[in-house]
Amino acid sequence: MKTFIAAFLIWTLASPRDNCLSAWPTHTACKSGNLEVLYQSCDPSQDFGFSFDQCSKEIKPNLSIKFGLILREDIKELFLDVALFVKGVSFLNFSYPICEEDLPKFSFCGRRKGEQIYYAGPVNNPGFEVPEGEYQALLELYDEKRFVLACANATIIRS
Ligand SMILES: *[C@@H]1O[C@H](CO)[C@@H](O)[C@H](O)[C@H]1NC(C)=O
Ligand SMILES: *[C@@H]1O[C@H](CO)[C@@H](O)[C@H](O)[C@H]1NC(C)=O
Ligand SMILES: *[C@@H]1O[C@H](CO)[C@@H](O)[C@H](O)[C@H]1NC(C)=O
Repeated sequence: MKTFIAAFLIWTLASPRDNCLSAWPTHTACKSGNLEVLYQSCDPSQDFGFSFDQCSKEIKPNLSIKFGLILREDIKELFLDVALFVKGVSFLNFSYPICEEDLPKFSFCGRRKGEQIYYAGPVNNPGFEVPEGEYQALLELYDEKRFVLACANATIIRS
């Protein structure tokens, strides 16, 4: 299993904000003394639950996450694109394969449209320290046909 694969985003974010017009409530994925992660679903059809188990500026490898979602498509292949911004200026994009035809990394790979998936477990991430500052992130989960199954915008505040 490989770590994060840094890559340019495949999709065009001509205007990132336009992807996020719906108004789902803002959720807290993590909040502690020095780190706060807030997110909001930007998929007009559904909100979803997400949280992670450690909330510290030192992100340890194999962070455990919890994630719940109703599938609007079968998931044969699934990818996650993340775009990070500071004050609206893009500074890092990466893409992470989650389910690949020959490499289903997670138990929910292969699940069918209409099913509700719930995942709680490690994500095989690398360890790193979150630098001080406030960041915005756009996350998009999509399948091999580029159908978006979940989308979120997030704010990360590290003090
Ligand atoms: C998500 O984007 C909307 C629209 O730009 C913004 O108002 C909201 O604060 C953002 N939410 C988070 C958690 O970053
Ligand atoms: C991230 O992707 C967007 C849309 O493709 C692009 O406009 C932006 O320059 C990229 N940012 C970086 C840091 O590569
Ligand atoms: C992370 O989890 C994977 C799979 O469970 C395991 O193979 C790997 O050794 C773990 N890495 C660390 C640093 O704990």
